[in-house]
Amino acid sequence: MTETLKLSMEGIVKRFGGVVALDHVDFELRRGEVMALVGDNGAGKSTLIKTLAGAHMADEGVMRLDGEPVRFTSPQDAWSRGVATIFQELALAGKMTIADNIFLGREITRSVAGIPFLDRRAMHRRSRELLEELDVHVPDIHTWVEYLSGGQRQGVAIARALNIDADVIVMDEPTAALAVAEVRKVLEFIKTLRRQGKSVILISHNVQDVFEVSDRITVLRRGQRIGLLETQKTTPEEVVGYITGAAETKRRPVAAG
Ligand SMILES: Nc1ncnc2c1ncn2[C@@H]1O[C@H](COP(=O)(O)OP(=O)(O)O)[C@@H](O)[C@H]1O
Ligand SMILES: [Mg+2]
Repeated sequence: MTETLKLSMEGIVKRFGGVVALDHVDFELRRGEVMALVGDNGAGKSTLIKTLAGAHMADEGVMRLDGEPVRFTSPQDAWSRGVATIFQELALAGKMTIADNIFLGREITRSVAGIPFLDRRAMHRRSRELLEELDVHVPDIHTWVEYLSGGQRQGVAIARALNIDADVIVMDEPTAALAVAEVRKVLEFIKTLRRQGKSVILISHNVQDVFEVSDRITVLRRGQRIGLLETQKTTPEEVVGYITGAAETKRRPVAAG
């Protein structure tokens, strides 16, 4: 079944001094699936996706993209290979417009008499298309990002990932700071991405959200993967049991592949 895997990590170890943040973690992501990544604070979720995204280097282990071993040297490197990570901090430029953020670092230029100019019109058009695709409503494409709501900012960050045509989109706690209506919106973004055939990794501490959008759930606890569950075949209670460690004694083998 390896051919259905978009991305996999095998035996990943990441240490910070004496702290073993990831202890031989295996992780996998199929094409077109939403994989939830859950676990208590400090379980290693952010470290795992930072390692996946090239923000950290693993001390041990291998990662494969479309079956080929890869080693990303930076998040930009990962983006260039179609793996876009939206970190908790979002990394948007507040004092820049929506369109400028979507095109940050990959501006469209056109040449007039041999001199390159930014093609603002093309960038604005494409930005509007991307936001429309996601059903993100913003007052004006020229608005500074710092004036947007948390949900709108998530939308801009996802539009940026779509703009580079990422086929893996990783989101670290995208709904953590949002009001209820905006959470709905972000969950809809995730469903839209899946409909487009993208693979999504969603880190969330909200079990209800996880059950609404995920196909499978990876549970980390103290730096180890202690569960890989099919969302349809488990319950919120069981997932919480894995997160807290209550399920550890009656642990069942993980369903791989
Ligand atoms: N840059 C770092 N330096 C030192 N320790 C870190 C660093 N990042 C994470 N850790 C430690 O690694 C463990 C996992 O953290 P993290 O991946 O942030 O957990 P989670 O995202 O699941 O809450 C924690 O013990 C945390 O303190
Ligand atoms: Mg975290």
